[in-house]
Amino acid sequence: MSGRNSELAGLYKLSVEERRRKVAEFSGLTLAELEGAVPAQGVDMGVLDRMIENVIGAFSLPLGVATHFQVNGKDYLVPMAIEEPSVVAAASHAAKLARAGGGFHSTISAPQMIGQVQVLGVKDPHGAIHRILEEETRLLEIANAKDPVLTKVGGGAKRLEARVVESPRGPMVVIHLVVDVRDAMGANAVNTMSEALAPEFARLAEGRSHLRIISNLAIHRIARSRAVFPRDALAFGDWKGADVVEGILDAWAMAAADPFRCATHNKGIMNGISAVAIATGNDFRALEAGAHSYAAWKSRSGGVIAPLSTYEKDAKGDLVGTIEVPMAIGTVGGATVSHPTARMNVRLLGVTGSEELARIMAAVGLAQNFAALRALATEGIQKGHMTLHARNVAMAAGANDQEVDEVAGALARSGTVRIDKAKEILAEIRARH
Ligand code: MEV
Repeated sequence: MSGRNSELAGLYKLSVEERRRKVAEFSGLTLAELEGAVPAQGVDMGVLDRMIENVIGAFSLPLGVATHFQVNGKDYLVPMAIEEPSVVAAASHAAKLARAGGGFHSTISAPQMIGQVQVLGVKDPHGAIHRILEEETRLLEIANAKDPVLTKVGGGAKRLEARVVESPRGPMVVIHLVVDVRDAMGANAVNTMSEALAPEFARLAEGRSHLRIISNLAIHRIARSRAVFPRDALAFGDWKGADVVEGILDAWAMAAADPFRCATHNKGIMNGISAVAIATGNDFRALEAGAHSYAAWKSRSGGVIAPLSTYEKDAKGDLVGTIEVPMAIGTVGGATVSHPTARMNVRLLGVTGSEELARIMAAVGLAQNFAALRALATEGIQKGHMTLHARNVAMAAGANDQEVDEVAGALARSGTVRIDKAKEILAEIRARH
């Protein structure tokens, strides 16, 4: 797999069949393996029926691969499942520009998640916290006895943190159990351990335990990525590279100062991260909750919400982008293993575990964000978006496979990508033929 190159120029021009062949070749998979697990139709109903309740069928999203990604010197094709046009193309283009500056450099902290236990009715909350922390070693042993496999591979409960939280219903003791979950997303391990410790906490605090659940604000599981986007590579059309750099810096500054913009800025980041999460069977709601609450948590001494990325200009005038985002994802357990397409996507990426996947996902988040800011700071977002969106609208207007490209092209050129216009164009085309 070494020496593989994720550039795959012109992949978008190939047929689905040809693309599958290229992707299989890149990932060291046989075409049969890929076709068996990444069906063009639907996944085995038996598998889906075991995943959730009351299954009546499958809901398909398009699965694409983003090209050009190089993270810590290694090339990847990144599977992304998403309904929104332009996202995969934008990520690929950003990765191409980042590649010109040496690719993405990503790191991940130890994969530590927090389990929260709420203890109510405590007379001396500060004393209670001390009594609990005095017994930390014994308490961690109780937690670790719940998951000997995790402790054997170097994970397990690592420490306790506790504080008094002032709430609308008075003070409560909240204890955090910090667990290294290794390659799992971790919710099961953390919740089991938190439930096991809750009676101990209640006894020591002389109160009663109430909630026992993971926190999605995963501040101890942070993925970071950095990329240099060379100024000269940013020039396009009438835009000079230096102007694009300044434009992106101004766009970022608005997100840093205005919560209304920041929400959208961070949403763009999650376009990339959640698409990879879905493709790999990860819990994208946990990631979304983590990212947005982290954005609020980061700015606790300042504004309302902080951008998850930063942009600066380095000494050479190149654009330096960085991202920092909680990354509670796994490559073992849950749908990452039970769903054949998710399992195949992890293989397609060629990652060895959750930490490598987290490093890639941080890079994808940065790429997506950079691509959005670049478009917004120059020609606007609608031009690229509408070209692709026009195809959806053409299909919705009733264009068949032979008509869709012609209708979409005329629609995009008209500048009015709406269903009524598409119907009008379709009627004209049909009248002509
Ligand atoms: C659209 O899904 C995402 C963007 O709105 C992100 C942004 O504005 O930065 C384009």
